[in-house]
Amino acid sequence: MILSGKELAANIKAGIAADIPHLKEKYGRVPHLVVILIGNDPASESYVRGKAKASELVGITNTTIRKPVETTEEELLSLIYQLNRDDKVDGILVQLPLPDHINEPTIVAAISPEKDVDGFHPLNLAALYQNRPCILPCTPKGIIRMLKAANVSIEGKRAVVVGRSNIVGMPVARLLMNENATVTIAHSHTVNLAEITRQAEILVVATGHAHLITEDMVSDGVVVIDVGISRNPQTGKLVGDVDFDNVAPKASVITPVPGGVGPMTICSLMENTVECFINRMKFKKNY
Ligand code: GUN
Repeated sequence: MILSGKELAANIKAGIAADIPHLKEKYGRVPHLVVILIGNDPASESYVRGKAKASELVGITNTTIRKPVETTEEELLSLIYQLNRDDKVDGILVQLPLPDHINEPTIVAAISPEKDVDGFHPLNLAALYQNRPCILPCTPKGIIRMLKAANVSIEGKRAVVVGRSNIVGMPVARLLMNENATVTIAHSHTVNLAEITRQAEILVVATGHAHLITEDMVSDGVVVIDVGISRNPQTGKLVGDVDFDNVAPKASVITPVPGGVGPMTICSLMENTVECFINRMKFKKNY
């Protein structure tokens, strides 16, 4: 089964769109997401446009702030502090990667945790690892949602996550563990990676290395979630971390690239923006 996130994401977005008028009635305005893009990297441009399009579709306000690549870390920090203080802003997203002269962890940590719609802030990640309430990072949240919608049972399964980033690998491992899978975290430098991946009943790959996973590295019936996305320099086509054509015949479920996990990430972002908005509105009411 080829598991596309497109339809599920469209359904979830339609549900959010139906809720927005009620939120407006209750709180007097709609959620407001601010996306900051530094420079003009084409992939980032396309992601940012996707976020604006999804916001428009569900009916939340989106402001995209574009700044030149020479923007300094201090200038970006001061913009973030201003947005942190702005009562009419509910979500702040700084599109990654940032230019080399800007320290990403410094920027991510400067965003107010209550407006951290990406779920990347260290306090959000700490809460996730301690099983406390938090904003779930968008891609891991979308992956679990997809698996559940496809009726893939996670409980008791051997899951292997290839990738250890704070954006996908580590949080998705935690969420799979919360669903009672037994999880091995590997990465692109793991010695004998194939030996580990062949044990997987659920395999999540998020390394950004095109075609890292070949058919000899998976067992029959595996569920494959491909989070990688890179561009083939020869053909210009988008490809995942999994050699889709050769792995698909062995898999019981597999996500394509593009169109698999990607749409779920954006719909989780819409959900997180609404969640931040509601939390902030409730907080205001109590004080
Ligand atoms: N760059 C690629 N994906 C993402 C994402 O989900 N959030 C941010 N902030 N930057 C990204």
